[in-house]
Amino acid sequence: MDASHMGNDIEQVLITEEEIQAKLAELATQIWAEYEGKDLLLVGVLKGAVMVMADFMRHLPGTVPMDWMAVSSYGSGTKSSGVVRILKDLDSDISGKHVLIVEDIIDSGLTLSWIRSNLESRSPASVEILTLLRKPEAAKVEIDTKWVGFDIPNEFVVGYGLDFAEQYRNLREIVTLAPHVYS
Ligand code: IMP
Ligand code: MG
Repeated sequence: MDASHMGNDIEQVLITEEEIQAKLAELATQIWAEYEGKDLLLVGVLKGAVMVMADFMRHLPGTVPMDWMAVSSYGSGTKSSGVVRILKDLDSDISGKHVLIVEDIIDSGLTLSWIRSNLESRSPASVEILTLLRKPEAAKVEIDTKWVGFDIPNEFVVGYGLDFAEQYRNLREIVTLAPHVYS
């Protein structure tokens, strides 16, 4: 679906499909140069990163494996607490590998900083982060995010993998929701 299928549930389009693809292509070029010849593994965090992973990895000019984790962060509503439980662990052993975590969004950064230190404890050669979106709050946490697609305002967004109550993940753009959707 695209924004035209949202009726009055949409507030505004923040990032278009074309802007997302152009940014992922640009990041893919930079990241490929950085990892060429290295044993790279892309690690996605379910479910939000599904679209970013699918499109980012197809922009890479060579083959690369992927693996997935699913976590649940204990938190109330739209705020995360940083207390994380692994729902699905990686299939592969990452020791000696250059791990690139592929994420949809960093808000507080609590979830991701937990995931990062969890992965770092498994003796990888390196762990870096690629996130399509980053909110201002993320700047407050000590989380070194090497590659960021877009810095966005502190608003709740959906689309391109991001959901509200599991809806709108299949939206092509990144949009803000009209207030009536939340109430
Ligand atoms: P953090 O631990 O606060 O960084 O939370 C990150 C997770 O919260 C993301 O992986 C998303 O699942 C979710 N999240 C944070 N902001 C948004 C948003 O604006 N829309 C949809 N999900 C979000
Ligand atoms: Mg998520």
